[in-house]
Amino acid sequence: MSTSPPSVAMTQTVTFEAMQSFAHATDPRLAEVMSLLVKHLHAFVAESKLTKEEWLRGLDFLNASAAITTEERNEFSLFSDIMGISSMVDVVSQPEGGTPSSVLGPFHNHDSLLRPNGVDLTDAQPGERVWFHGRVVDSHGQAIAQAQIDFWQNADNGLYPAQDPEQDPHNLRCKIACDAAGNFNLLTIRPHPYTVPTDGPVGALLAASRRNIWRPAHYHVIVSAPGYVGLVTELFPKGSDYIDNDTVFGVRPGLIVPFEPCHDSEVAKRFGIDAPFLEVTYEFQLVKQG
Ligand code: BEZ
Ligand code: FE
Repeated sequence: MSTSPPSVAMTQTVTFEAMQSFAHATDPRLAEVMSLLVKHLHAFVAESKLTKEEWLRGLDFLNASAAITTEERNEFSLFSDIMGISSMVDVVSQPEGGTPSSVLGPFHNHDSLLRPNGVDLTDAQPGERVWFHGRVVDSHGQAIAQAQIDFWQNADNGLYPAQDPEQDPHNLRCKIACDAAGNFNLLTIRPHPYTVPTDGPVGALLAASRRNIWRPAHYHVIVSAPGYVGLVTELFPKGSDYIDNDTVFGVRPGLIVPFEPCHDSEVAKRFGIDAPFLEVTYEFQLVKQG
């Protein structure tokens, strides 16, 4: 039996009525966002001529994501990341004039310890030593006193503490209060490319789509200071594998940094390491709260 396609008027009526159904939300922003979401989702259904089977597969995907999601592992966040939605939100909510933001990812830990400026995070573990230092400034290049750095990365085996019972939960992560001139510095190791978790429905989707599952190496940094818009960002070593093919679309040109050999013997002595070691310098720029 062949069915005739729905008339344009009929689809438009459904879309209009569904959009209108949010018009009286208590929060006008909720009304705006939900009505636009309906508009674009309906346009997607109409344009792709989505079948019932495909819609049910989509619901199965969401159910499987819910079943695997826990406090420690959120499949919906990962879905948002690999769809580029997290990065789109970063891009559209980025205030003008500051350092570009990038994805938070699932391994941030609110309980990171406040360590002294100049901390050595390496604790005799394997990995190329990197002296990471820089400054936090405002949009005029003036130092911001009282800025805080929240830093985390993966270990030499490519894993974060949450994925590796051998690692201390505080390994290679810390908070640092910058000095009065906005300066910070710490000793860490070179980060490594990393695959997003692939044992859930998102992994199955990536495989079925023949998509890359790797992220380039990166440092995660959250920079905050009273009176300024907080910055969640990442720094990527220039030349890292996957820098042009990040599966969560987090790389921005201003966030790619050279890891250069450094021969500074004072710094080597201070950290008890051999020169040359690697050095990364970065100036984070924060935008004043409006
Ligand atoms: C990460 O940076 O570790 C990450 C980001 C997004 C999804 C998965 C992992
Ligand atoms: Fe990461």
